[in-house]
Amino acid sequence: MKKTLKPGTMLYPLPAVLVTGGTMEESTVMTAAWTGIVCSEPPMTYVSIRPERYSHDVIRDAGEFVINLTKASQAFETDYAGCVSTRKEDKFERLGLRKLPGDVVKAPLIEQCPVNLECKVVEVKELGSHDMFLAQIVAVHVDEALFNREGRVCLEKAGLLAYIHGGYLPLGSRKIGTFGYSVMKPKTKKKKAAASRAASKTKAALKARAGSKQGKPQKKSVFTGKRVLVSDKK
Ligand SMILES: Cc1cc2nc3c(=O)[nH]c(=O)nc-3n(C[C@H](O)[C@H](O)[C@H](O)COP(=O)(O)O)c2cc1C
Repeated sequence: MKKTLKPGTMLYPLPAVLVTGGTMEESTVMTAAWTGIVCSEPPMTYVSIRPERYSHDVIRDAGEFVINLTKASQAFETDYAGCVSTRKEDKFERLGLRKLPGDVVKAPLIEQCPVNLECKVVEVKELGSHDMFLAQIVAVHVDEALFNREGRVCLEKAGLLAYIHGGYLPLGSRKIGTFGYSVMKPKTKKKKAAASRAASKTKAALKARAGSKQGKPQKKSVFTGKRVLVSDKK
């Protein structure tokens, strides 16, 4: 049996991202959960923003913004940026958010966020409570620590933050499958498993070597502060 509720926004999990707008000197930052991907080629996203938000007009006038993905360890900053307006205070300063210049847009990237998507608005759609800023993703920056030895981005390593029905939750890092695993040929599956085992072995050996060199196991740092520009096609 199911209980039927009135129409609502019960979709999960949503990201709770930090959206930045403006310029390096005069910047805005706000939290948004109403965001997602709408097209692969060209890569397109949207952010829905209420007209009363300070960021709304800044982003509408500039036609640009940056989506900064958040880590579970940034839940406090994410919540705060979603509760206090730039009209009241400089949230970058208050939260110690460091700015990095983008490659294409004038809005700043947040250095502490593991991934930053530079976006150019292509259309603003008035939907009701929110205006949807439909935008093309024009550059993607990823923390260097998230690349594996083969140069692939392992986003699950970032410890990302999810927003589920009013609550903040950490996204688990244990994969239960990858895209297409349900229809993968046994031969391919075997090949992939062997490659993954080999990679784990190499990693363990490297770790052990580094540990014995220093006399203790090395701590892994998720954030290096360095960025890598990638183009992400799916
Ligand atoms: C988890 C969370 C998600 C939010 N998602 C949105 C959203 O998608 N769209 C929106 O307009 N406001 C959203 N807000 C509210 C704004 O972030 C908030 O009003 C913020 O203070 C606006 O900042 P500004 O006035 O500096 O632009 C969210 C707040 C939180 C805490």
